[in-house]
Amino acid sequence: MTNLEQLLAIYRSKPVILAPMEDVTDVVFRRLCRSLGAHFCVTEFVNVEGLLRGCKRAKRKLVLPADDQPTAIQIYGSDPDRLAEAAEVAAEAGPLAIDINCGCWVPKIAGRGAGAGWLREPEAMVAMAKLVVSRTKLPVTVKTRIGWGPESHMPIVDLARRLEDAGVVALTLHCRTAQMGHSGAADWTWAKRAREVVSMPVIVNGDIKSGPDALRAITETGCEGVMVGRRAIEHPWVFREARAMIDTGVDHPQPTIDERIDLCRAHLIANVEARGEQYGVAVTRRHLSGYLKGIPGAAAVRQALVVTDTLAGCLAILDDVRARRHAPIAQAAEVHA
Ligand SMILES: Cc1cc2nc3c(=O)[nH]c(=O)nc-3n(C[C@H](O)[C@H](O)[C@H](O)COP(=O)(O)O)c2cc1C
Repeated sequence: MTNLEQLLAIYRSKPVILAPMEDVTDVVFRRLCRSLGAHFCVTEFVNVEGLLRGCKRAKRKLVLPADDQPTAIQIYGSDPDRLAEAAEVAAEAGPLAIDINCGCWVPKIAGRGAGAGWLREPEAMVAMAKLVVSRTKLPVTVKTRIGWGPESHMPIVDLARRLEDAGVVALTLHCRTAQMGHSGAADWTWAKRAREVVSMPVIVNGDIKSGPDALRAITETGCEGVMVGRRAIEHPWVFREARAMIDTGVDHPQPTIDERIDLCRAHLIANVEARGEQYGVAVTRRHLSGYLKGIPGAAAVRQALVVTDTLAGCLAILDDVRARRHAPIAQAAEVHA
């Protein structure tokens, strides 16, 4: 199967996709989300200038181990030629597709014409996409927002059509304007409107936090699939919950306490292996309080984890949680023996 055929097969399966998130969606987190049901992942965005200079940070983001598929590499920049050149270099890392970031709202990126900055010049955005498509042998997708804001009629509908004409094979739509950043509610009706005017797959993104949200987003918009970002950081089980709801209409049970502890352990161990002890523990912390939600004494456990820098220390705290959880059962067994 060609890359395009594989990608289209994924879109036909109503995929639940892990969003690209800077400093979050690294290889460790992609593996973890995949094991919980994510069909497809997109890397953190890679700056084309860093990539073309071969800087360490960009190089790290381009490493795709054999088991890290299917994954698209996302690139961002403001110069069409440099984007096209970077797409060719990124293709050598073996991703399934190249995704162009036209949605980052952060002023230091969008203000320089990259990311969502492209939405201020739709004509140039389409020409850029066309150039990138012409220069890479891989399928090219675009992730963008509904408009710069606060337009009364968002440019995305016309833009979707023109991006498809330019050879883009799929569109992911974060249903907010650039000016909204992450605030306000995502308006999925724009995904429906964009989907209606193109034949390429459209993925709806923004505020999908549960299985029912995922099903509703697909049903209300007619989009091929959903992309989940922030909810995955604290609750990566959202992928299996969305999968169950989309495929069978049934709510997947919430993770058990043991599953929550197991995930904390697995994520800590994998990050320490990948990044060394100090950094590995530090980058896992942002996930742990979400993973431990609902366990007995969660607040105290979180406090203890925040001030613990070693892997052994963190694992000991988690083992203690598990031991305390099992203690009453063990005592009861003794009484009845
Ligand atoms: C910490 C963080 C980093 C992000 N980094 C990227 C990125 O590198 N590329 C991108 O296209 N979007 C990025 N986003 C946006 C997400 O991919 C997604 O579009 C947005 O969070 C809305 O989806 P959600 O409501 O499911 O979180 C980032 C979001 C967050 C919270």
